[in-house]
Amino acid sequence: MNEYYTLNDGSKIPKIGFGTYNEEFCDNREVILQAIECGYRFFDTASLYETERSLGNALRESGISRSEVIIETKLWIDEMGAGNVKKAFERSLTRLQTDYVDIYMIHWPRQTGADDEDWKALDIETWNAMEDLVRKGKVRRLGLSNFLPHHLKNILENCSIRPVVDQLELHPGYSQERAVQYCLDNDVIPMAWSPLGRGRENATIGNSILVRLAEKYGRSIQQINIRFLLQKGILPIPKASSYEHMKANLDVFDFELSEDDISMLSCMPQTAWLEEHPDFAIPDRKSNPANV
Ligand SMILES: NC(=O)c1ccc[n+]([C@@H]2O[C@H](COP(=O)([O-])OP(=O)(O)OC[C@H]3O[C@@H](n4cnc5c(N)ncnc54)[C@H](OP(=O)(O)O)[C@@H]3O)[C@@H](O)[C@H]2O)c1
Repeated sequence: MNEYYTLNDGSKIPKIGFGTYNEEFCDNREVILQAIECGYRFFDTASLYETERSLGNALRESGISRSEVIIETKLWIDEMGAGNVKKAFERSLTRLQTDYVDIYMIHWPRQTGADDEDWKALDIETWNAMEDLVRKGKVRRLGLSNFLPHHLKNILENCSIRPVVDQLELHPGYSQERAVQYCLDNDVIPMAWSPLGRGRENATIGNSILVRLAEKYGRSIQQINIRFLLQKGILPIPKASSYEHMKANLDVFDFELSEDDISMLSCMPQTAWLEEHPDFAIPDRKSNPANV
C-alpha cells in the first residue's frame, strides 16, 4: 500500500494500519507475520493488549528493517502520572524489542471514569512526562486514544508537543462526527479503532444500509466501512486473522462512495457501539500472566 496521510509534524503514515488486539490474549505473532507479508507497515498495540511482545517477535522474525515500520503503543490508566510513565515506557520497549517507539499514546483520558475529578491535571502530568521521552529521542511523536473534544482541548491548551493522532471508536453507526471534526480542525488525524465494528452482528436498519451499499458497489460490508472512514479523512486500523481478510481490507483504493452514500452512512442509527465511554466506563480486561 502506498497511500499516506501527512501528520502535523510533516511525517507520513500509511492510510490503513493493522490492529493487534486479540480478545483471547494469545500469542498472535503468526498473524502479524502474515500482515507484514500482506503489506501492512503500521501496527497498533498497547501495554493493555499484551501483544507488544508478539509484535516485537514478528517484526524481528520478518527481517524487515525497523525504519520501514511504524510502531504505535499506549500506556494504560495504571501507568499514568509523572512517576510511572518512564517505567511503563521502558517495559513496552523491552517487550517490543526495539529502542524507540514511533507513536506513544495515552490510552484513556480518565483514570477512574466518572469518579475522576482530577483527570485534567493527571492527563497533563502524563503528557509532560511523555514529552520528555520525545526530547530524549526514545519516542518520535505522541498521540491520544479515546480523547473526546473536551479531553483533547485540555492537552492542546497545555502541551509543548502536539498530538499527531487521536484514536476513537469510529465506524458507520458510531461515527462521532463532532469528535472527528474537532480533530481535523486541530490538525490531528482521527484514527478509527474497531473500524469494522469488531464484527458485531446487528440486524438493524443500519446493517440493511451497509448490505445495500455492499451490493451497489460490489464490495464487502467491511470494505464499505473502511472506504467510508478514508473518505472522511480517518485512518482505520482493522484487525484480521486471515490473509484473505487482511488483503481485502487494503483493497479499497479503487472505488469511491458517492457523497449521498457517505451522508446516508453518517446519519445511520447507532449500530455496533462497544459501550465503552471515555467519560464513564473503564474497559475491564482480563490478563494472561504469560504475556505481561
Ligand atoms: N484505543 C482503544 O481503546 C482500542 C479499543 C479497541 C481496539 N483498538 C485497536 O483497534 C484495532 C481494531 O479494532 P477491533 O480489533 O476491535 O475490531 P475490528 O478491526 O473492527 O474488527 C475485527 C473483526 O473483524 C473481522 N474482519 C476483519 N477483516 C474482515 C473482512 N475483510 N471480512 C470479514 N470480517 C473481517 C475479524 O475477523 P478475523 O479475525 O476472523 O479476520 C474480527 O472479528 C484493535 O485490534 C486494536 O489495535 C483500540
